[in-house]
Amino acid sequence: MIKDMVLSEKVGVKDMKSARIQEIFFRFTQMFVLITLGLTGSYSAKCKEGMWVPTMLKTREADMLREGLQIPTEMLYNETGTGLNNAVVLFGKGCTGEIISDKGLVLTNHHCGYGSAQRLSSPDKDYFAYGFWAMHNDEELPCPGLTVTIVRKLIDVTADVLGGIADTASDKLRDSIASKRILDLEAKYRKNYATDAMVKPYYQGNKYWMILSDTYSDIRLVGFPPNGIGAFGGDDENWVWPRHTGDFSMFRIYAGKDNKPAPYAKENKPFKADKFLEIKVSGYKKGDFTLVYGFPGTTNEYTYSGELKQVVEITDPIAIAARTAKLGVWQRHMTADRSIFLKYTSKYAGVANGWKKWQGEIKGLKDADAVGHKKDFENTFDAWAQQQTKNKVYMSLISRMEKATAPTDSIVYADQLQRETVTGIEIVQIAAIADKILGCMRTNLTDSAFTDTVKKIGDELAGFYKNYDAPTDKDVFAALMKMYFAASPTYVSPQIKDALQNAGGNVQAWGDKIYRTSVLPYTEKMATMLKSLRKSDSAWITGDPAWKIFIALQRATKSTIAPQLSEYAKEMKYLRRLYMEGQMEMAGDKTLYPDANLTLRVAYGKVGGIQAGKSKKQGIYQTTLGDVVALDDSTKASFKVPQKLKELYRSKDFGRWAEGGEVPVAFTASNHTTGGNSGSPVLDSRGRLIGLNFDRAFEGTMSDYWFSEKVCRNIAVDIRYVLFITERFGGCGRLIDEMKLIED
Ligand code: ARG
Ligand code: GLU
Repeated sequence: MIKDMVLSEKVGVKDMKSARIQEIFFRFTQMFVLITLGLTGSYSAKCKEGMWVPTMLKTREADMLREGLQIPTEMLYNETGTGLNNAVVLFGKGCTGEIISDKGLVLTNHHCGYGSAQRLSSPDKDYFAYGFWAMHNDEELPCPGLTVTIVRKLIDVTADVLGGIADTASDKLRDSIASKRILDLEAKYRKNYATDAMVKPYYQGNKYWMILSDTYSDIRLVGFPPNGIGAFGGDDENWVWPRHTGDFSMFRIYAGKDNKPAPYAKENKPFKADKFLEIKVSGYKKGDFTLVYGFPGTTNEYTYSGELKQVVEITDPIAIAARTAKLGVWQRHMTADRSIFLKYTSKYAGVANGWKKWQGEIKGLKDADAVGHKKDFENTFDAWAQQQTKNKVYMSLISRMEKATAPTDSIVYADQLQRETVTGIEIVQIAAIADKILGCMRTNLTDSAFTDTVKKIGDELAGFYKNYDAPTDKDVFAALMKMYFAASPTYVSPQIKDALQNAGGNVQAWGDKIYRTSVLPYTEKMATMLKSLRKSDSAWITGDPAWKIFIALQRATKSTIAPQLSEYAKEMKYLRRLYMEGQMEMAGDKTLYPDANLTLRVAYGKVGGIQAGKSKKQGIYQTTLGDVVALDDSTKASFKVPQKLKELYRSKDFGRWAEGGEVPVAFTASNHTTGGNSGSPVLDSRGRLIGLNFDRAFEGTMSDYWFSEKVCRNIAVDIRYVLFITERFGGCGRLIDEMKLIED
């Protein structure tokens, strides 16, 4: 029955007819689910945790229908070209986007288009201040380097990759056989399908999927609201619900003559998309089914409790402390001097994004006692493992993981401390680049090859200096070095300690001297130096005090940290794979979802705010333009509502984009998402676009390790706000005309 539906869909039955078929299908399946429920009587309210590989959706179908899905899962994913998978794209290297017209129009987040907009912006074309809207196709701006990837087909190739490898094979042997087979498989599929073919491991290497995809590289900017809309609320509202950001931008895929991927050419044509998302403009209610389709990056849901404990007690706290210090210094300098603000604003956003997320993560993990729950689970697993006489390796897994992890606390500490403090100082990062020059001096490059390489490195440095301020960095140096030396002496490099002692023991004075004597922080001095550099001129680098710090750090890493960590990583990679395999076996009929790995996934949940918590605002699930205007504050850059938007609000002429006299702006739901899901379409029960995912709530950022339906929420821009801004603010009604809007 379901197969027939898909067939009708495939041959392109007209909309009316397919809506009718969907309706019948829905009734039938609801009935089926109810009967099944009646028979088993055991559908407890389970967490809607999970990011499912589209080919696994069949196993989720009963549950998804019960939750409210009203279309067959074959419509979400199939291999015939008609599935919604063809409309959900990997945007760039770490975001999601979706195709929303048959002319290749792509919607994604503002913060995902930010880099492209920055490269196209200049003082007289400041797209952050004024936005950008292409009024015709020929005004759409090429974005070199940007790509969009469409996934056509996923194939489980586990048997081809792992078949015949004995369980007793060492990891080294297993890996070498698997990688050779993967290369062969990819080559074979590439030849046969004329698309990209890539095999990726899932479930810690227990399964492999082949991903067949098309990557388009002529992508052009179409619409980009100013920061007063697209980044409204800035870092204050980042990772926070309720939210008021119009975090969207639009691009278009251009293709060659045959509609296939082609490098940029003026004469390329808008990509003719067979499949694009329909847009539902009549909204949603609390409790409605939603689905997020996209490319989540990384999660660690099956991790061993000892590793999770290190996250809560070691790595997150160190990163937060170091970044608090660094952001404090940056903030001070940025407030005092607008030119420093412009240099550091993007770096600040990047550093602050992790800083805030990890605070939510620690709080969430502690409040939920995630480590305790993991331990309980490990006890259950261990008890189960003792019964597994067929696969005896499970019996000792928990104790082996404990044995491997326990002694690593101090090395994990040292590594993270070094990474977030000394390596977080920009002069040390410049020293790392200078060290590349030294590397060239020590090889037998010809003089001209040497000059070429130095020139390339010089260009790289010039890019770095554009957004660098030495006095700011000097203050960061003092703050982070103080933190480094405050740690137990076992974590501190003796050479760096000696350097401080030789300079008199005062970190501040030591920093002053370094920034006075080193050439590394100064763009002009460096440019002059590099211009006339000869291969024999190594002394200026080896004599540099900042380079000495870098090299001492490298020594500490090479001699102790790296070898110990890589031993540990090797052992844990092996144990994690077996632990995952064991957990899957123990789960029996219940299918576990694989951790995120930046491949196409489906998560589903329901519209609704966080019920727990003291604040009255917690329960709300939607914000409106009225809320945005109420937050307007001309003294705070990120809360300044653009004048034109305020006027639009005052006119109350919202047309079809309003609900109850207000334009909805953002909403929240219980879909399991992570970084990479930015720009993901949020779909309704019939697979129609209702929003654009862009963030998670602070209380639930722990969902990368531990999902709780109570507090884990994704945050999306309401599609009606996207369309309202595009039409009324951007004056780009031509784009709306391309889309397919559904009113019911
Ligand atoms: N927290 C969101 C995501 O990881 C949005 C980041 C961009 N926004 C910002 N205010 N920095 O990554
Ligand atoms: N902003 C995130 C991204 O860039 C999505 C939020 C999250 O981590 O869930 O992918």
